[in-house]
Amino acid sequence: SDVAALRARLLAWYDENARALPWRVPPHSGRRADPYFVWLSEVMLQQTTVPHATPYFLTFTSRWPTVSALAAAPDADVMAAWAGLGYYARARNLLACARAVAADHGGVVPDTEEGLRALPGVGAYTAAAVAAIAFDRPANVVDGNVERVMARLYAVETPLPEAKPELKALAARLVADDRPGDWAQALMDLGATVCRPKSPLCTICPLLADCAACSDAYPKKSPK
Ligand code: ADE
Repeated sequence: SDVAALRARLLAWYDENARALPWRVPPHSGRRADPYFVWLSEVMLQQTTVPHATPYFLTFTSRWPTVSALAAAPDADVMAAWAGLGYYARARNLLACARAVAADHGGVVPDTEEGLRALPGVGAYTAAAVAAIAFDRPANVVDGNVERVMARLYAVETPLPEAKPELKALAARLVADDRPGDWAQALMDLGATVCRPKSPLCTICPLLADCAACSDAYPKKSPK
């Protein structure tokens, strides 16, 4: 079935099943997510799960409610608050990035993928995620969840990690100008809650009719 029908099915599923997360606004709420919250959550979530990151996110945002507040924080305070999240280079990048936004952008997070990419330590994934989720830009947001969903949906035989460019191209075909922020989050939620790594819940999947795999047989893994 075609791209428009698939998109409609997943977005309708998201309308009913979007996880309530502290950096997220509900679909059709008419509210906009705080770009600082989206950026902070994406940096934290690159290395850990939603349940593990959530208390850290709440601590950071109550202590440093804005980018400018974070930018003004002493390094040692931020590093101490990060303890337990790991990958301390990420915390250093976070602070460098907050200071660049405060110093060069008046505390306003850039609203395009390109503008975000120009910030220190902001990679392709984070720029795409913030552009889509905070600013509703039609960016192709591809994390491990989305790779797994694409590998199954299209029964991609190429193993990971070689399949990454192919999976990204498949995901790009599904991006559109209608609700791109919800689309990105819908794919992530589907991957996290239904199209799980193990024991996927295919019987309740909104993309059952579209899916070539309907099982955990994909993604294929390269033998180590
Ligand atoms: N994992 C990474 N980013 C996420 C997001 N925005 N929502 C849910 N899970 C995520």
